[in-house]
Amino acid sequence: MCGIVGYVGTEKSTRAVDVVIEGLSRLEYRGYDSAGVAVTTGTISQAKRAGKLQNLLDELEAKPLPEATAAIGHTRWSTHGGPTDENAHPHLSFDGSVSIVHNGIIENFAELSRELAEQGIERATQTDTEVVSHHLALALKKEGDLTKAMLATVAQLEGSFTIVAVAADNPDTVVAARRNSPLVVGLGDGENFVGSDVAAFVGQTKRAIEMGHDELVTITANSVEIQTFDGEPVEREEFLVNWNAEAAVKGGFDTFMEKEIHDQPAAVRDTLLGRMSESGSLMLDELRIDEAILRRIDKIIVVACGTAAYAGHVAKYAIEHWCRIPVEVELAHEFRYRDPVVSEKTLVVAITQSGETMDTLMAVRHAREQGAKVLAIVNTHGSTIARESDAVLYTHAGPEVAVASTKAFVAQITATYLLGLYLAQLRGNKYSDEVLTYLDELMAMPDKIADVISREDEVKALAKDMKDVTSVLFLGRHVGFPVALEGALKLKEIAYIHAEGFAAGELKHGPIALVEQDQPVFFIVPTPRRPVLHAKVLSNVQEVKARGARVLCIAEQGDSAVDDFADAVLRIPETPTLLHPLVSVIPLQIFACALASEKGLDVDQPRNLAKSVTVE
Ligand code: F6R
Repeated sequence: MCGIVGYVGTEKSTRAVDVVIEGLSRLEYRGYDSAGVAVTTGTISQAKRAGKLQNLLDELEAKPLPEATAAIGHTRWSTHGGPTDENAHPHLSFDGSVSIVHNGIIENFAELSRELAEQGIERATQTDTEVVSHHLALALKKEGDLTKAMLATVAQLEGSFTIVAVAADNPDTVVAARRNSPLVVGLGDGENFVGSDVAAFVGQTKRAIEMGHDELVTITANSVEIQTFDGEPVEREEFLVNWNAEAAVKGGFDTFMEKEIHDQPAAVRDTLLGRMSESGSLMLDELRIDEAILRRIDKIIVVACGTAAYAGHVAKYAIEHWCRIPVEVELAHEFRYRDPVVSEKTLVVAITQSGETMDTLMAVRHAREQGAKVLAIVNTHGSTIARESDAVLYTHAGPEVAVASTKAFVAQITATYLLGLYLAQLRGNKYSDEVLTYLDELMAMPDKIADVISREDEVKALAKDMKDVTSVLFLGRHVGFPVALEGALKLKEIAYIHAEGFAAGELKHGPIALVEQDQPVFFIVPTPRRPVLHAKVLSNVQEVKARGARVLCIAEQGDSAVDDFADAVLRIPETPTLLHPLVSVIPLQIFACALASEKGLDVDQPRNLAKSVTVE
């Protein structure tokens, strides 16, 4: 979602704008539809453009901004008002005294807007942000100081926000405030930064401070002062960012998505790393919930959105089988509004790559209010959901830049397996040697994933051949069902092709009516070592084949039963049933990525989508 950067240095120079632009380019992965930058030098100058960052760069080349000590910048993902030059941030106040950038939604903006109209201040844009800039300017007139003015302004706001501001008459200071929206401070030498995540300044410094909610920071070149919205000073621990700037570049691939598909063996391996104690038992040391509580839980509810929710679906099969605990999987935005039955014996597992998804955050808060313990499976260190949960199990997938999730998905599934095995061991459902056998099988998965990726050319050839299809169906049973859902989602979101995933058993209850001559249908075929499951899917294959479908099977090496019916077979290595999704999803990711590239689409930043969805 929106990306924010703020900078203050010692000397007036072009560095202020350069640092902000570099930060914005690193934040592009969050998804955006316009970008802008402002500097303060006694007056405020700004440039902003709808569309890609390049449009802003072109504008800055034609009309450079003045040298400055302080600058703020923004990549916007529209909420109030369309993606136009005017609606792009920063927003300058009516009197030119302050300029702000904002991430989030101001819920009482209509009321704030009315108050302005009563004072004769008219809005020039459709954004909620502009309204805040005017209120901040009014407060600055009264308070005479940007920090005090910001404190007075945030007291009037309802909703979620990170706001970063500069003032015309204070060219050495940037002030930023956060409520329910991310904000991190970067510490430099004679310069300081703020950003919506560490990517905003990781090219400049690795030293950072995570801000708490309802806190405000005032940065100058040589000082960082944090206080609560009530004006109480706050001391926060500095931490070192463990992502290097190179981790977020394409590594020789044409797109981030391709790179991240190839990162998957490492993502799974790294997520498994360091989880085994010397005695060979599972050790999840980020898990800070009392073991006695975990022994008592009688239900698990997984809350997540999109791809992360499909990882939760896979988790249900594994955890129920290993631990004999009922597992429900619920879209986070549905969970909160349906009055779920939650008690102190419920463990809510929130799965999220960004750790900032507002729907999931709200579900986490709701669960905790109801007395449940929340364990978060998160990829982004220091993110809001990680901080607000009772325990965290980090996936070690590294930064995921492409909007369409790939490596985070396999890392999330891996983390849920670890959780399942941990609980099975703790609750006595599995002996340690059984757990070790599963762990050995898990340790073998990175090589198996690499094996599937090594045959990507076959998948790419298929994608090339199918680039003009208008509808694709995906069918699977058991753990193949969430994989089918994920395969369809990938194709929808990056190739803009109508795609549906179904449980294969559901076929004759309706979806088979869609099958006509040449309709492409992917099947995720289970291992033949589960003969009943395998036979059932083969029956489904025959049902659609009989109606003229183009059948595309993802099947294990050596499974010759599919050969008679399939128009194409994409092979995966022999894998235990419950671990199948880690390999069977790979060809579907490659297929979607290759097909979108064939169509000449922007694979990494599909239309209308944002990487981090920080509004409900
Ligand atoms: C799809 C995708 C989304 C996310 C969803 C949750 O490729 O990336 O469906 O999985 O928006 O995001 P996180 O995991 O950040 O909570």
